Amino acid sequence: MNPVNNKPLPLVIVGLSFGRHILTTLNEPEVAKRFKLAGVCDLRKNVADEEAAKYNVRAYYSLDEVLRDDSVAVVGLYTQPVGRAGLVREIIRAGKDVMTTKPFELDYPATAEVLREAQRLNRVVHLNSPGPQPTPEIQQIQDWIKTHDLGRLVGIKAEVWSSYFDQADGSWMDDPRLCPGGVMMRLGIYLINDIIQLAGAVDQAQLVTSRVRTGRPTPDNAMLTLAFTSGTLASVYASFCIDDGDWYSNGLALHFERGSIYRNIGVADLSPKMGNSSIALVMADTSKPFDEHISRVVERQVIRDEASGQYQWEEFYQAVVNRVTISDEYVWRIMEGVRILNCMQEPGVIHKMTAV
Ligand SMILES: NC(=O)c1ccc[n+]([C@@H]2O[C@H](COP(=O)([O-])OP(=O)(O)OC[C@H]3O[C@@H](n4cnc5c(N)ncnc54)[C@H](O)[C@@H]3O)[C@@H](O)[C@H]2O)c1
Repeated sequence: MNPVNNKPLPLVIVGLSFGRHILTTLNEPEVAKRFKLAGVCDLRKNVADEEAAKYNVRAYYSLDEVLRDDSVAVVGLYTQPVGRAGLVREIIRAGKDVMTTKPFELDYPATAEVLREAQRLNRVVHLNSPGPQPTPEIQQIQDWIKTHDLGRLVGIKAEVWSSYFDQADGSWMDDPRLCPGGVMMRLGIYLINDIIQLAGAVDQAQLVTSRVRTGRPTPDNAMLTLAFTSGTLASVYASFCIDDGDWYSNGLALHFERGSIYRNIGVADLSPKMGNSSIALVMADTSKPFDEHISRVVERQVIRDEASGQYQWEEFYQAVVNRVTISDEYVWRIMEGVRILNCMQEPGVIHKMTAV
């Protein structure tokens, strides 16, 4: 199944609800040189047929059918989160590699088992959030942490919103067992995964929620507080109820003992364009007397790349062709996100996490 002569790898997208948006991104030149859409798959035959006709590719009506096709090297899996581990297991056992989407699963033991099996079988399993590598602006933030004397990370404030008027339609997004925390699971998860990367293991979690205006029974307004074993405290706010044009900014304020880093906090000048990341490091000028410690921007950058949740197609391609086993660190980050999602099954309850 390995590629010869650097040819794009044949890829089938399974799950064509959100997955149909992925089909358009496969045309981007950087992605198209690595992956060639070989087919589309959905249990809903009419949807599969429609997309297949649009892209002039084969329609598959079940995952089994895709897995029996030896010409397919990789699967893009865009089904609902619950049950994903089982589908990933079928894919890797069929000798194919997988790109999938957030959140990985809700079932923690099943997540652990399938990722360990992927490591044993040396099959690649990547997703967009958490991604296998830090996104460019998180890499820059990690560099600033290394090169400036910031001290420990003590506090994090993270926030993301959009403006939806969804109505209940019987999908997984309506069911609190399949979509715990509602907006926190759907939007907040990107920030949760960013934070895990920076703050490490979680010790305690509590979610509070409300429903303001959407028609789904799951929360459309939510706040999660997290205490990390390192002593870092974090709050994550996620909402579908804010229509200010600053959607999906994934704002992040990281407070260290001797400085703060901000990503996409504030308005226009800090978030110049949706998808870009604007980051700034602020430190006090300690060369001056205390009453003149006016904080100042020490570093500032705009990174022209989508931040949280970008699909790292090149990384995925390189891992597939070079048979790069998914790392223990990546497996741990995926699992830690699933562990936090599990706490969201019971809003209002303070979850003391057991060390893992
Ligand atoms: N930016 C992003 O990356 C982003 C944005 C939105 C949603 N998502 C994620 O995408 C995933 C899918 O969300 P959705 O809203 O499209 O879900 P959905 O339930 O609306 O759609 C899933 C589709 O998969 C099909 N399907 C399910 N099981 C299948 C199987 N075994 N074989 C073939 N087809 C199957 C269903 O028929 C359905 O069409 C979720 O994990 C969601 O969080 C990601």
